[in-house]
Amino acid sequence: MDESDRVASDAARVYAASPTEGAANHRHPADPSDNPSGNASGNLSPNPPTRDAVLSGMRPTGALHLGHYHGALVNWVALQDRYRSFFFVADWHALTTHYASPEVIRNNVREMVIDWLAAGIDPERSVIFVQSQLPQHAELHLLLSMCTPLGWLERVPSYKDQQANLSDKDLTTYGFLGYPLLQAADILVYQAAWVPVGEDQVPHVELTREVARRFNHLYGRETDLDTRITGLLSSINANLGQELRAGRQAWLEGGDHEALRLAQQRIGQLPCDPANRQRLLGWLAGGRRQILREPQALLTEASRLPGVDGRKMSKSYGNAIAMRDDPAQVETRIRRMPTDPARVRRTDPGDPERCPVWELHKVYCPASVRSWVQEGCRAAAIGCMDCKRPLIDAVLDEQQRFRHRAEPYLRDPEAVDAMLRKGCETAAEVAEQTMVEVRSSMGLMARL
Ligand code: TRP
Ligand code: SF4
Repeated sequence: MDESDRVASDAARVYAASPTEGAANHRHPADPSDNPSGNASGNLSPNPPTRDAVLSGMRPTGALHLGHYHGALVNWVALQDRYRSFFFVADWHALTTHYASPEVIRNNVREMVIDWLAAGIDPERSVIFVQSQLPQHAELHLLLSMCTPLGWLERVPSYKDQQANLSDKDLTTYGFLGYPLLQAADILVYQAAWVPVGEDQVPHVELTREVARRFNHLYGRETDLDTRITGLLSSINANLGQELRAGRQAWLEGGDHEALRLAQQRIGQLPCDPANRQRLLGWLAGGRRQILREPQALLTEASRLPGVDGRKMSKSYGNAIAMRDDPAQVETRIRRMPTDPARVRRTDPGDPERCPVWELHKVYCPASVRSWVQEGCRAAAIGCMDCKRPLIDAVLDEQQRFRHRAEPYLRDPEAVDAMLRKGCETAAEVAEQTMVEVRSSMGLMARL
């Protein structure tokens, strides 16, 4: 796949949900490589500009299945070339609901990471790590808890919903109430610009934005901000300075989100030190110094992949095909899948639109096979077993690729740990930079 295909395909699958714009889907962000004239001098230091960061996490509560792959992981794989990508195992989040069953977490962290690698998440291009190895997440969670109103957390829809849905567990805990705030810390500590998540997680990203805004308002105060901004703007290329002023005006006076986003991108690419970048970003948005960046949700289209009983594929229905299931099992289970009930006998014509197997063809089979299914089914020219054959082959083929990528790590479990150790180190460098600013802005001592 060349770069333009990749951009087109991930643009088709992922939409940016900006809740402040009434959740309207807007354009996928422009390619970060369309570089502005950020040749600055003066008091801008020569730090290399960085690409916008994408961050997402999953709780390690079981083997990942094809619904996870075609829902979330395909997107992650597509994003890792375009952004600085951070993907982590949210083991602390898993404990908020599974605190009474630590074996679930113990058994699933490495397995889930292997599923990611099997999907094509590449440790050379993405930072892969484990939340509980990064104390910065916990520290930021604690510090954010100081200034987050209780009502904000009680209002998050998943709080009451989950307590009701998982009524076999006692979720009236401190940790569970803090779930979305811990998630906010995960996101903010990497200054992530984009958070690929499903619809159910959008309120958590929205809370994250509110928390960041409040934090910047409380702790981004600087008496000499105006003078500093004037100095910074006069030190960069005059056209760019003009462009930033115009962008700020379009945002503050016209509410133009796109203008704001473009100007943020320009500032993101300026060779300048982190504190000055925060000042410029804060000034641009009309506020104080931006210590924490407000992220946006990248809404992942929900996978409608059916499971082997025809209902939505889900671990809790027992109808899921795991990414690394045994091939013979996969074959048997697809062969037994229900089809259009009208096809009682081989000679009865059917309608693929009423058949869950067809939903799988749509994901797995090329156009030529799909039209063969459409015609053959409606004319009773093919039987359901014939129809399932190319599908089974395609699923097994995909699983073969998964197993091939996973194989070196399955053979050598130490390689998984070594890869994670490296990921954790890289993550810690980024997270620590944010924490230095956060601690000092809140009046805490620097590390002695
Ligand atoms: N809450 C997410 C889920 O249940 C997992 C998660 C934890 C996450 N921290 C995150 C996702 C940060 C995105 C960003 O799926
Ligand atoms: Fe479903 Fe294929 Fe059978 Fe038609 S022929 S009912 S599409 S399995």
